[in-house]
Amino acid sequence: MDIKEVRKTAKERMKGYCQVCAVCDGRACAGQVPGMGGLGTGAAFMANLHALAACRFNMRLIHGVDSPRTEVGLLGQRLAMPVLAAPIGGVAINMGGGVSEEDYIKAVLKGCLFRGVLGCTGDGIPPFIIDAALAALAEVGGNGVPFIKPWGGQELGEKMRRVQKSSPVMLGMDIDAAGLVTLTLMGRPVSPKPLEKLKEIIAASPAPFIVKGVMTPEDACLAVQAGAEAIVVSNHGGRVLDHTPGTAEVLPCIAAAVKGQVAILADGGVRSGGDVLKMLALGADAVMIGRPISVAAVGGLEEGVVAYLDQIRSELTAAMVLTGTADVSRVSPDILAPAL
Ligand SMILES: Cc1cc2nc3c(=O)[nH]c(=O)nc-3n(C[C@H](O)[C@H](O)[C@H](O)COP(=O)(O)O)c2cc1C
Repeated sequence: MDIKEVRKTAKERMKGYCQVCAVCDGRACAGQVPGMGGLGTGAAFMANLHALAACRFNMRLIHGVDSPRTEVGLLGQRLAMPVLAAPIGGVAINMGGGVSEEDYIKAVLKGCLFRGVLGCTGDGIPPFIIDAALAALAEVGGNGVPFIKPWGGQELGEKMRRVQKSSPVMLGMDIDAAGLVTLTLMGRPVSPKPLEKLKEIIAASPAPFIVKGVMTPEDACLAVQAGAEAIVVSNHGGRVLDHTPGTAEVLPCIAAAVKGQVAILADGGVRSGGDVLKMLALGADAVMIGRPISVAAVGGLEEGVVAYLDQIRSELTAAMVLTGTADVSRVSPDILAPAL
């Protein structure tokens, strides 16, 4: 399937919710939450793009790297490249409902599996978001990563029990959703988790646990202390707090604090294979891609996701060759030029 065709169809299906811009940078959709935008001014979404754009490659061509290795291990799983589809839910409220929640999330999980990577599923209100996610996860034999919200009260226990039944290969919590306006508007209890509570949640997890929404070395160290096996350096695509730094800005400090103690994932503004390589050079072990995979899934379902992942893989390989990077699990920070 041609990616141009996928984007064209997505543009029709997402009319009024996403303009499928040439560069998905948060300008056209600023403030559109619900929708595909960033919260408020959209500055945190845009900061993700700016931070990555500010990183430039040192091009190296006198070396023997012509077929670099993109395979990588993550929490016991083998991935064809260090990329996951970020958890995104709420097709009707955020994307216009051009495809159903069920078809959407199946396309993400199956498209990812077909290309040897993992898709994540989201959570939220209405409950059919997680219903569709768990049904799709069951269909792929648990080969995906469900993320639940930092619910309060009984809802947390109930969601954990439901997620466990789908026997996922790993599972996570987007702790930054504690500030999500869409949930607050609906009167549903989400909250920050003190260290002891996070420890309890992680201890009860049947699979390696990922804490998503880490933006400081302090929180990264606390997540490690709580027993997380991975963190995601993420500002939720700029959807929870206006005016945070870009994730690529904070990633090096976080990596300096916890690299090697926990797997480090990062997301926010990753739009090309080159961006994937930049995040790895800044200290990530793998990245998540959000909105562009949603666009691919809405525009072309499973085939759309596969086409998009193929594009990312070939761009990543080209960027590795052009920086002399032989192995995706050993990316040198020296492939990046000093900041301007
Ligand atoms: C419409 C929408 C819904 C999202 N829903 C969730 C969710 O349910 N759980 C979650 O952890 N993150 C959610 N996110 C955040 C993404 O997982 C991810 O952090 C972010 O989109 C990455 O930035 P990018 O879209 O610029 O790649 C959502 C993002 C969008 C745009």
